[in-house]
Amino acid sequence: MPGIAYLNGHFLPLEEAKISIEDRGVQFGDGVYEVIRVYHGVPFRLHDHFLRFERSAQAISLPCPLSNTEWEALIREGIARNHCDEGKVYIQVTRGVAPRDHCFPDSVCPTLMMTFRNMAEVDVSLQWQGVHAITLPDLRWARCSVKSLNLLPNILAKQAANEAGAFEAILVKDGLVTEGATSNVCLVKQGGIVTPFLSDQLLSGVTRAIVLELARKHGIAVEERAVREEELSQADELFLVGTTIEVLPVTQLNGVPVGVRMPGAVVQEIGEAFRHCVRSETG
Ligand code: PDD
Repeated sequence: MPGIAYLNGHFLPLEEAKISIEDRGVQFGDGVYEVIRVYHGVPFRLHDHFLRFERSAQAISLPCPLSNTEWEALIREGIARNHCDEGKVYIQVTRGVAPRDHCFPDSVCPTLMMTFRNMAEVDVSLQWQGVHAITLPDLRWARCSVKSLNLLPNILAKQAANEAGAFEAILVKDGLVTEGATSNVCLVKQGGIVTPFLSDQLLSGVTRAIVLELARKHGIAVEERAVREEELSQADELFLVGTTIEVLPVTQLNGVPVGVRMPGAVVQEIGEAFRHCVRSETG
């Protein structure tokens, strides 16, 4: 099934959902978004995504058009309409349609859209074999904690990784690791997890928070601190976390193998704990 859309109050087939070329999301990337994973027909960690969505909207002075209860009802309806068992929900709100002018328009209705798509479960072989990554300079703005529609530097980095035969680009700013182009980054050192601390330089990942919480529950030490670029290649294990990839070991960085055993013991344990958490919360 190709999926369905929700646009400004109506559910409709994905291919029929159209927005104006004067939408500020199209012309300026003036909006925010979320991606929510659906497991067994249940949206995973909806509340965490709502919280971040609200923070992102507030950060760009965008009024949230719906309450969390209204969002949730629509999301559950969309999932049911699309018979979405394993899938993802994309939510996007833009400042709306107005003649092109950088300043906020005086009176404008936000454009509210969602897509509901089925997706295959994460490829287990990727989780077992791991993926390759490269490092690249982080060329993004100073508010990367906002999940904004402006993804051009992320897209360019991801494409560069793809052209280099890698899955992800790990971004580095002033010698410090920020995050992946589409994920958060964790290292394993002496059995503990190390990850960049939350700041405006990176997204406060929903998966990152779950992984750190699970690690602590499993007695795995967690350090949230500045991570220097050279620590990546010295790590015992390296892994990426995110809504669509879950927990993904990195076996090669810039063409050089990472660690000694792949996938490492910690990433395996965390990956299993994550899958268990998903099963317990979504049935
Ligand atoms: N992105 N950092 C960046 C830059 C991301 O784009 C993402 C995920 C993450 C992980 O966040 P979370 O665990 O909340 O998904 C970190 C989504 C999936 C996307 O843009 O498609």
